[in-house]
Amino acid sequence: MTARILIIDDEPDLLTAFARMLTSEAHDVETATSAEEGLELLDRMSFDLVLTDLSMPRVDGFELLTRMRQRGDATPTLVISGAGTVEHAVRAIKLGALDFLEKPLHRERLVLTVQNALRYAQLQEVHGRLQADLEHEKALVGRGPAMQRLIGLIGRVAPSDGRVLIMGENGTGKELVAAAIHAGSPRHSGPFVKLNCGAVPRDLVESELFGHEKGAFTGAFTARKGRFELADGGTLLLDEIGDMPMPMQVKLLRVLQEGQFERVGGGRTLKVDVRVLAATNRDLGGMVRDGTFREDLYYRLNVVTLHVPPLRERKEDLPLLFSHFTAPGRKGHGLQLSAEALAALSNYDFPGNVRELENLVERLAILFPNEIISVATLRDVLTTAHPSQKPTRGALYQRGRSLRELLHELERAIMVEAIAAHGNSKGAAAQALGTERSHFYKKCRQYGIGEAEN
Ligand SMILES: Nc1ncnc2c1ncn2[C@@H]1O[C@H](COP(=O)(O)OP(=O)(O)OP(=O)(O)O)[C@@H](O)[C@H]1O
Ligand SMILES: [Mg+2]
Repeated sequence: MTARILIIDDEPDLLTAFARMLTSEAHDVETATSAEEGLELLDRMSFDLVLTDLSMPRVDGFELLTRMRQRGDATPTLVISGAGTVEHAVRAIKLGALDFLEKPLHRERLVLTVQNALRYAQLQEVHGRLQADLEHEKALVGRGPAMQRLIGLIGRVAPSDGRVLIMGENGTGKELVAAAIHAGSPRHSGPFVKLNCGAVPRDLVESELFGHEKGAFTGAFTARKGRFELADGGTLLLDEIGDMPMPMQVKLLRVLQEGQFERVGGGRTLKVDVRVLAATNRDLGGMVRDGTFREDLYYRLNVVTLHVPPLRERKEDLPLLFSHFTAPGRKGHGLQLSAEALAALSNYDFPGNVRELENLVERLAILFPNEIISVATLRDVLTTAHPSQKPTRGALYQRGRSLRELLHELERAIMVEAIAAHGNSKGAAAQALGTERSHFYKKCRQYGIGEAEN
């Protein structure tokens, strides 16, 4: 990696020697014999790395680091300290230096340290970009009153440690809301950990939540931390909380009350500092009345409830969401809708909410990369996504086929249609049809209904 490097040292001989060592590695080197001169150069050009002596008359290396910081100059800096002055090096690192080199400087050592520093700085930059992209991914888009109200509430609940229950239909953005609460809380630099209670087999929920010790059950070859431990100092999102099996609800209640638990197969009681958020698309209140969700747990989780509005109730956000999903770097980038098609979008109800819109945009971008999409095309794509191939009357009975076989076929068709009508979510389809989720999933496997989301 060739880099532009600034070397600052008040001894001209050393300066020349260092410069020669680095130029021979194909680096582009500038030199300065004082910190002031160095700062001037930093003002005029940009460098990938600064290498500076620490003890210099007038302005020394520490002062240089301080001034760079004050100006917001984040150029990675290595310091060169005299032999046996490790405490100086430590002080310099506290002031923001990346690493230090001791005099006398050997060529290999210098070259290697510079290489490492450049590599590290590059990784830092890549990391920063990725982080920024992630933040962008996590942004809650929406300027309409419903979304603004929600964003306002998030701003109010985020700073506290209060538990929040996030309710909303499938694909409305519950997980994004949870991420926004974490990001706006004092715990934001701590971990944000999720557990989808509906996606974990019942007998593994406990070990997923609380971890297990080696040998706790067949297959537990090594000890493993649970989500509560992983989320220590941060936030834990219990997604699809309505799917939490009853026996686990009791154990969860205890952690919420006492803040402590044991790993499966372990006697040691662990204490953690975790803020718990829960999300669901089910009617938890109704489940409490039916006796399928514990009332005490419901109240523990539900200090504040946030309702994430369905997309059909905030269609004013459609254009903004559309731009968001077609922005550069997104899968829908480049997609264009005719003005009529864009308007037609708001006549559609989006049962699968924002996720359905996102999928639709992606599908259109793949199918029609270089077209301005017309209303007719849009309709076609929407109808394929929501097939309404109801068996017509009279076609129900077919000679030579058993009632059982015909009923299965009909059942399968209904299921496929329901899944599509609910934004490809099996969970939502099961709920809408009033069937137990696990039963529905089992039927899907039996009928070979494809792997859709959830
Ligand atoms: N307001 C929004 N702005 C931008 N993107 C959004 C918004 N709401 C949802 N999305 C996007 O839609 C998709 C679904 O959101 P998310 O997973 O948060 O929904 P959910 O309510 O948790 O869904 P499910 O009930 O299926 O778990 C994600 O890709 C998310 O980034
Ligand atoms: Mg979710």
